Amino acid sequence: MAQKIEALRGMDDILPGEVEKWQWLEEKARLFFHGFGFKEIRTPVLEYTDLFSRSIGEATDIVHKEMFSFEDRGERNITLRPEMTASVARAVIEKGLLSQAKSLRFFYIGPMFRAERPQAGRKRQFHQIGIEIINESGVVPDVDAVRYLYQFLTELGVQDLELRINDLGSREDQKKIAEKLREYFSANQSALCEDCRYRLEKNVLRVLDCKNPKCQPVVDKAPWEAIAPQSAGFEEVKKSLGAWNIPFQIKRRLVRGLDYYNGLVFEMAAKGLGAQDALAGGGRYDGLYSEIGGKPTPCIGFSIGMERLFMALGNTAEEKSRENVIYFAPVFTDEEWFQKQSPSFIINKAIYELGQLGMKPLQGERGLKMDNHLKAAIRNRAKYMVIFGAEELKNGEWTFKDMDNKTQEKIKHGSLFSRIKKVNV
Ligand code: HAM
Repeated sequence: MAQKIEALRGMDDILPGEVEKWQWLEEKARLFFHGFGFKEIRTPVLEYTDLFSRSIGEATDIVHKEMFSFEDRGERNITLRPEMTASVARAVIEKGLLSQAKSLRFFYIGPMFRAERPQAGRKRQFHQIGIEIINESGVVPDVDAVRYLYQFLTELGVQDLELRINDLGSREDQKKIAEKLREYFSANQSALCEDCRYRLEKNVLRVLDCKNPKCQPVVDKAPWEAIAPQSAGFEEVKKSLGAWNIPFQIKRRLVRGLDYYNGLVFEMAAKGLGAQDALAGGGRYDGLYSEIGGKPTPCIGFSIGMERLFMALGNTAEEKSRENVIYFAPVFTDEEWFQKQSPSFIINKAIYELGQLGMKPLQGERGLKMDNHLKAAIRNRAKYMVIFGAEELKNGEWTFKDMDNKTQEKIKHGSLFSRIKKVNV
């Protein structure tokens, strides 16, 4: 037998049975962000490597160690996107989207690729939901970004959210901060790992991302408050978050693992994730567009890791994704099935109409006993079951079962959808 071919490490199939919760989350994200005036953008998964090395930064772990980069047949250096902020910027510049609008608000949903060591919540192909607010500066877009993130996660039902924010200052501030940090870390070089010595040379801010326990004591003692004062804009953001009732912590060592940030940066953690692993992260990036050939364009955005979001949601996503699944159990003899006013016609019409309304109707096999219909409904994770036999046909009704509440009632043909939606609100 030929050798079996397996999927790549850290790259998962999303199979039927599991894909429903992804569809549920994607649908929730589309409804939420469309509702706040964001438009969806989709960009290719492959881009020129330069796009990411110039925007994310050579000294970041992402560019330095984690990109899937290769030469194609035309000897072009290309990379599977490790994130989408740079791709969106490339698209906006290339297609001149800012010539038609003063500012843009986009969201995206899609796979990203980073060659990290796979573990729970850390994949090589993972998925993000993200937003970018393009060509807007000041406190309003900053607070908008944070509150949309907070509201979206809260509405989904994520528990124990922990929002951490920091102020990275302007590009000018960052130069001064880097200088002072370089002085401090150079004096403590012998206590740093090899990677950090490379970071010290390339971009000292990246030393603060180091996860090596050896470096932590030196990183912890870095005199942050003296090095990086908080700006007036940051004070305003804090006040406004308070007014929106959004709890937050200030974490001065939060620098984020990408070089393009300035000003406000933030991360969201939640229950059920490991200590280090953030559920979402983002911040302001006013310099990225000019780094890749565009005009200076102030922006802010964030991305949420979908795999981690499912971890934080526990069973909720699976439960919610069942709410549209409705299993039809036809119980007819051959003679009844093929009679003039055909029951198959009635079932097919109901299934088609419910499908058009966004439900997920399934039709069981006609010959099954009721016990087997029940088993099939459970196997298909149906929230509802509809029994349709000779008596129901005669009365123009369905027998409608709620599989969770174990209730059963008769419902007139044509009123299934309104009955289900009444249950859901
Ligand atoms: P990031 O912090 O690199 O930011 O990633 C955002 C989120 O993606 C993380 O908080 C995490 O939930 C998820 N994530 C990252 N790497 C992995 C992985 N290997 N496996 C599973 N999940 C992962 C960005 O990507 C920026 N583009 C955010 C942004 C948007 N900044 C401005 N606009």
